[in-house]
Amino acid sequence: MASLSRLKPGEKGRIQVTVDAAGKRGPIVKTVQVYSNDPKLPVVSLQVSMQVRDSVHLKKGASAGIFDEACRSCHVDQGRGKTGFELFRADCFMCHNAGTSAQNITQMSKRPESFLRRVIRDGVANSTMPGFSQANGGPLTEAEIDSLVKSIRNP
Ligand code: HEC
Ligand code: HEC
Repeated sequence: MASLSRLKPGEKGRIQVTVDAAGKRGPIVKTVQVYSNDPKLPVVSLQVSMQVRDSVHLKKGASAGIFDEACRSCHVDQGRGKTGFELFRADCFMCHNAGTSAQNITQMSKRPESFLRRVIRDGVANSTMPGFSQANGGPLTEAEIDSLVKSIRNP
């Protein structure tokens, strides 16, 4: 929606863009095309980029327990019964992937096994990386953690 339909040369106007984010999450881009009788530039393409946060993730901060009742359906249950890369894809990919702030599996593969095992068990302090071992209130057995370490080392 434009604030003015006619602009004199050099005059400025505003365009209001509405985005329906229902059912969307993550990065989205909306393209708006502006048509005018400018002989040199009759169509201008504008891009609006945004990051859609859903209400679950907006409400609770990084300190909230990812293994809580409200979070389990996505952060725990998808990985049940899985091992190795399948388990990584279910429980870890959402944070460790191209485009996320945490390292991806290729970067992690250069770390020693002992380091990987410790971090997966105990998490990283002051970050959203939780300790996944059952001793830390997480869902994973030692065997499952071991299968993750192996699949990270051989991606
Ligand atoms: C409907 C599925 C779903 C539920 C329920 C859910 N998550 Fe997530 N979560 C995801 C997905 C998918 C991602 C990765 C993409 C993203 O960030 O939106 C993610 C990412 C995250 C991240 C890392 C990104 C960030 O914002 O820092 C944290 C932390 C997190 N979730 C915590 C929680 C907590 C705490 C709860 C419960 C209050 C929860 N999640 C509930 C699906 C879910
Ligand atoms: C809610 C987001 C989130 C989830 C889920 C998550 N991580 Fe992390 N992880 C992080 C963050 C943030 C860091 C700290 C930043 C970094 O080092 O990439 C981290 C760090 C790590 C590191 C240390 C990386 C390094 O080389 O310093 C490893 C290994 C790791 N995570 C493995 C896993 C595994 C395996 C899973 C699944 C069982 C997992 N993570 C699930 C967010 C997450």
